[in-house]
Amino acid sequence: MQLIEQAIAFKQGTAEIPEQKRTVANLFFENSTRTKSSFQMAELKLGWSQIVVDPSSSSTAKGESLSDTLKTLGAIGVDAVVVRHRQTNWYEPLLHDESGLMPILINAGDGSGQHPSQSLLDLMTIYEEFGHFEELHIRIVGDLSHSRVARSNAEILQRLGVSVSFAGPASWYPEDFNQFGQRVELDDDLSAIDVMMMLRVQHERLSEAADEQFDAASYHEAYGLTVARYERLAPQAIIMHPAPVNRGVEIADSLVESPKSRIFKQMANGVFARMAILTSVTEAKHAVTN
Ligand code: CP
Repeated sequence: MQLIEQAIAFKQGTAEIPEQKRTVANLFFENSTRTKSSFQMAELKLGWSQIVVDPSSSSTAKGESLSDTLKTLGAIGVDAVVVRHRQTNWYEPLLHDESGLMPILINAGDGSGQHPSQSLLDLMTIYEEFGHFEELHIRIVGDLSHSRVARSNAEILQRLGVSVSFAGPASWYPEDFNQFGQRVELDDDLSAIDVMMMLRVQHERLSEAADEQFDAASYHEAYGLTVARYERLAPQAIIMHPAPVNRGVEIADSLVESPKSRIFKQMANGVFARMAILTSVTEAKHAVTN
């Protein structure tokens, strides 16, 4: 809640920009538009310096390990590194590093693991809309098994007292999601939903055979937010999607900018959520170091 309130204060212009300036590197081993550019924007708004490291032309392409790359950045004076990596839990082996060289690490998405900064901007968007989490009913729909957004959100939303339900293809439902909520049919109780959170079909994580068999039109009919389903939603209900969106697949093209859509608001909130994350983790490290 402190991070959400700090993000909202940055958005409203009521939070002070910390005087202490930092140096950060944004290291994206997987493609990104929103996360990378909104971290960059957050860093600019904080007055921080950025070191540009392009993985494809860095020494990781010559075989240097992620650990040595990060320690190199720490050694040359980078305070924090924002990392997106295709490997789930890329950070696990680094947690016990005792070299003293490791900069602060911020996870910008690990494989099918977690996407904490997306989760924070989603929480911020929901909180701005409803002013609370308890008693909300949020349905997360689609490619659950490959979605780091679904995993981060399912866990935190349940902890915040939200009633979470899941819908989508059975083959894309991870059984361990039972601990966060109930699997239902997409059309069940649509009028009782406060937030429809649609997920992207992650073609890049499907096997070649599964991707070849995928039929966009039948997926949209069975598991997509169609105009007919949209019309059954309650007046206060909103729709969210982490994006990028496969228009006409997980959500009808015309609904992406519809009155209930908060998709572009999520992107705008991402800058302020990431300002809150960057200041919080660097201040915490500074306090521990001192
Ligand atoms: N939502 C999200 O992570 O988008 P990008 O992959 O464009 O960063």
